Amino acid sequence: MKHVLITGGCGFIGSNFVRHTLKNFPDYKIVNLDKLTYAGNPGNLTDIEKNSNYRFVKGDIVDAALVGRIFAEENIDTVVHFAAESHVDRSITGPAEFVQTNIVGTFNLLEAAREAWLNDKAGESKNACRFLHVSTDEVYGSLGETGAFQETTPYDPRSPYSASKASSDHLVSAYFHTYGLPTLITNCSNNYGPYQFPEKLIPLVINNALQGKALPVYGDGKNVRDWLYVIDHCQAILTVLQKGRIGETYNIGGNSEKQNIEIVNLICDILDEKVGLLPGGEKRRSLITYVKDRAGHDRRYAIDATKIRTELGWLPKVNFKDGMRKTVEWYLDHKPWIASVTDGSYREYYEKMYNNRR
Ligand code: NAD
Ligand code: DAU
Repeated sequence: MKHVLITGGCGFIGSNFVRHTLKNFPDYKIVNLDKLTYAGNPGNLTDIEKNSNYRFVKGDIVDAALVGRIFAEENIDTVVHFAAESHVDRSITGPAEFVQTNIVGTFNLLEAAREAWLNDKAGESKNACRFLHVSTDEVYGSLGETGAFQETTPYDPRSPYSASKASSDHLVSAYFHTYGLPTLITNCSNNYGPYQFPEKLIPLVINNALQGKALPVYGDGKNVRDWLYVIDHCQAILTVLQKGRIGETYNIGGNSEKQNIEIVNLICDILDEKVGLLPGGEKRRSLITYVKDRAGHDRRYAIDATKIRTELGWLPKVNFKDGMRKTVEWYLDHKPWIASVTDGSYREYYEKMYNNRR
């Protein structure tokens, strides 16, 4: 039995990962450590909260004593580290929390793993341990019209968010080279799917379009992202955890580059088809509003996923159009979930972030 510590398991990717892992590996024992920030929602996991192999701990990865206690109490041999401040726009208006959680929090987890796995008590058992750090393609910076990020692409982060993730990646790598901690790093492109918080492009546009509100598109709408369905990301992480070579980095991507405006148009068209036109008989595309650009907005991301495909045999299974239809359907079927996460604090965030963009 593996004793897995998952951090940030109440967020978007983390909650999908907890569910996917318990379904596919029912003998894994999972401890989910999550601070429940605005982005964390225990309601994302109500269907599995009674599973006897699952334990939830509300807490902060910046709390070193708590993290150390969990390692000792639960005999943790595997870490899958998702917990982070994850939204680029919030990192522009308030970077301090990104430094704390993404850098100091990662450092604490590395120290706890070093203490638990690399001291004499651990003996040979450390060979079975794994510390998988979930990171982002944004650490590589921004691409021109052509090319794609490879694992060897030099780091060039350009937002406080990506700089904090780059910093945490370097710490993880340092713990492998210096102490021999058995680490793995994954750098993934943009995810979409169920349970994504509506501050990110896709769920924000779905939510606004359902309410007949303006759909804010930054700049000229032609920035490009490489989209991956979240369950494909979860499966890639499990593949790296089980088959990846210690100390290595694996890029993960959907091979599905889209301009933002294409995504917004697609969501409008799916919703028009599924729930009918707006009350005035207009198509939802009429809600599209070009707004002031994000500061330092990276132009294009694209992932070269050759390494994980050829070395570990992972490929994405969900194509973009099917994934987007499934995602829109999920939000249509989970309106109470949307209502519960777009409460007062979300409205305040929205006003602060979007009112001065017009
Ligand atoms: P999210 O914002 O939806 O969830 C983050 C989770 O971490 C929340 O549950 C939150 O409560 C928790 N958390 C935040 N600070 C914490 C702290 N100090 N202690 C404990 N828990 C804390 O994020 P996400 O989109 O699911 O991303 C998860 C990870 O994947 C992040 O590390 C992110 O950098 C990375 N990633 C995300 C994407 C994407 O497209 N969303 C792509 C590549 C990589
Ligand atoms: O590439 C991986 C990264 O993808 C992850 O590391 C981040 O955690 C995740 O948030 C995501 O970052 P992005 O900045 O690419 O995602 P976001 O959904 O915020 O924006 C996607 C694109 O859409 C981006 O070019 C900005 C644009 N956008 C976004 C919002 C919220 C808009 O045009 N309007 C909006 O209102």
